[in-house]
Amino acid sequence: MKIAILGGTGSIGEGFALRWALKHEISICSREIEKAVKAAGDYSGTLLSKGLLCCGITGCSNETAIGDADVVVLSVPYQGVVPLLKNLRPYFKDQIVISLVVPMKKNKWFEFTPPKQGSAALEIKDTLPESVKVVSAYHNISAKKLANLELSLDYDVVVCGDDEGAKRTVMELTKEIKALRPLDGGGLASSYMIESLTPFLINLAIRNGLSNLGVKFV
Ligand SMILES: NC(=O)c1ccc[n+]([C@@H]2O[C@H](COP(=O)([O-])OP(=O)(O)OC[C@H]3O[C@@H](n4cnc5c(N)ncnc54)[C@H](OP(=O)(O)O)[C@@H]3O)[C@@H](O)[C@H]2O)c1
Repeated sequence: MKIAILGGTGSIGEGFALRWALKHEISICSREIEKAVKAAGDYSGTLLSKGLLCCGITGCSNETAIGDADVVVLSVPYQGVVPLLKNLRPYFKDQIVISLVVPMKKNKWFEFTPPKQGSAALEIKDTLPESVKVVSAYHNISAKKLANLELSLDYDVVVCGDDEGAKRTVMELTKEIKALRPLDGGGLASSYMIESLTPFLINLAIRNGLSNLGVKFV
């Protein structure tokens, strides 16, 4: 598959690129082409240094990769995602769009700050053409752990979406990341529950002297 990672130059974009490049063609997308090309080179170098063969990681502008992609990952902070997608809307047709976006802010502690739609995923769905299949996942996965290829991520990933085929595709992509277990979380309307867990997990970690907490249902 062709996977475009918008904001792929950032913290969690790196982990997805490293993990999925073993089986898929990855485009690292950025608002600045030079930044994307550099990140793509760095990630390819990381895989090469570990003796891992990848299907190709290319750096490009946000605009270039979307039209050609099967899957577009939104790996951009909440504050920037809707303005960015409004500009990029003409490049979307019927791709699967994965939102891992968490609307939150820090006061004394981290707080969930959903938009009027109830979740970032529903606001993103409202912003993109109707033919795009928005799936919500990975909100509770630590960027640091995802980028560490030595680690098995013994966590659950709740996947929400209204298009069953798109949701299945994202669940299959999740299984390709060592030890992650995808769980069907129902429709996109359920996304707020899993988005709101992220600030809660960060506060739990701070209060209890822990780091990079994830979720596992037993
Ligand atoms: N970090 C985590 O552990 C984690 C875990 C789960 C979910 N998430 C979610 O994943 C998303 C990305 O998180 P992150 O920590 O990777 O973020 P980040 O490193 O702060 O930013 C990722 C990339 O987004 C682009 N960006 C930044 N501000 C932007 C703006 N105003 N408009 C458009 N693009 C902008 C930048 O790329 P360019 O400058 O190259 O365009 C940046 O490299 C967030 O929505 C977050 O809630 C993060």
